[in-house]
Amino acid sequence: MEFMTSKEAAQKWNITQRRIAVLCSENRIDGVEFIGNMWLIPKSAHKPEDGRITRFDPPADMPVKPFLKWAGGKSQILNDIRCKYPAALGKSITKYAEPFVGGGAVLFDILSRYDLKEVYISDVNRELIATYMAIRDNRVELIDTLKSLEKQYLPVNEQIRKEIYYASRDRFNVLKATGNEPVELAALFIFLNRTCFNGLYRVNSHGAFNVPQGSYKNPTICDEANLLTVSEKLQKVTIVCADYKESQSFIDEHTFVYFDPPYRPLTVTSNFTSYAEGGFGDKEQAELARFIDEMSGCGAYIIASNSDPKNTDKNDDFFDKLYSKYRIMRINANRSINSVGNSRGKISELLICNAFGGE
Ligand SMILES: C[S@@+](CC[C@H](N)C(=O)[O-])C[C@H]1O[C@@H](n2cnc3c(N)ncnc32)[C@H](O)[C@@H]1O
Repeated sequence: MEFMTSKEAAQKWNITQRRIAVLCSENRIDGVEFIGNMWLIPKSAHKPEDGRITRFDPPADMPVKPFLKWAGGKSQILNDIRCKYPAALGKSITKYAEPFVGGGAVLFDILSRYDLKEVYISDVNRELIATYMAIRDNRVELIDTLKSLEKQYLPVNEQIRKEIYYASRDRFNVLKATGNEPVELAALFIFLNRTCFNGLYRVNSHGAFNVPQGSYKNPTICDEANLLTVSEKLQKVTIVCADYKESQSFIDEHTFVYFDPPYRPLTVTSNFTSYAEGGFGDKEQAELARFIDEMSGCGAYIIASNSDPKNTDKNDDFFDKLYSKYRIMRINANRSINSVGNSRGKISELLICNAFGGE
């Protein structure tokens, strides 16, 4: 019989060597041999189906939730957005695109409620997109790795938690820089998101993730049931790390597109400059508006979100001008206005839509 090493098997089956060792020691692969200190796997062996997947039987109507906390997440105003979904969604509108997907609150709502033919998501955050892909393509390994992080982190005292957090952050940055071990990177991405300060994602000038540890007593690190459901729902989804403009080739008259770009910062002064974190300033907002015009011209149904400049300057009609052809709705959101201190309270946000019917 011809054999392959665990490294070769890992490459062939697109899983980690650690997973191969677990499968061998659980007698899940016929004919393996342990020689010296390594596993040898028959070349004719098939990748074992994972027991966890066959055991997990999510109810058909189990809703799927975002697996991350994400700045600008839309869970809070989802009801308002949902009211504006096109009535033809799931009928003549068979495609959905979310080119600034982030944590995907709207995406997961749509995937829970509609069985669409094609779904496209993108974001410029490479590690975020790698995590969506790992959940779709390597869920078992991802959940294993995340569970082992959870097992290390939850039972120990504050000092050891701190050491684990910063060691994980260092390891994440090494993988981020090298592009190695995408599944481990994805597990660390979720782990850091659940345990860092406010679920923030921020990098320094060298591109290293630098958010400090948060102070959650009992964070949910591995929500296995939801991750498996997310994975099921993502099977048919096209996941792309790209600028939003790349979605153009996907969008047509059968597509509903939700645009949720980085918000234009609110300002208390009228001499606002176009600087914004992540390079999304006024020039980029105007460019996006032109892109939306083009996609609207193709017959796509469009909703876009943004901040409402009138919260802090009633004369600021930046978006009213930019989207004068569209229906602009102001909805209440419970967010803080950073530029005027951290006071939380009801402020309004914009929902911009290219259809004028109904409410
Ligand atoms: C407001 S957040 C989206 C939040 C998301 N709707 C949610 O519910 O979590 C904006 C996202 O746009 C991404 N982004 C920024 N510039 C982009 C670009 N040019 N093309 C695509 N995505 C971009 C950011 O990485 C970020 O994840």
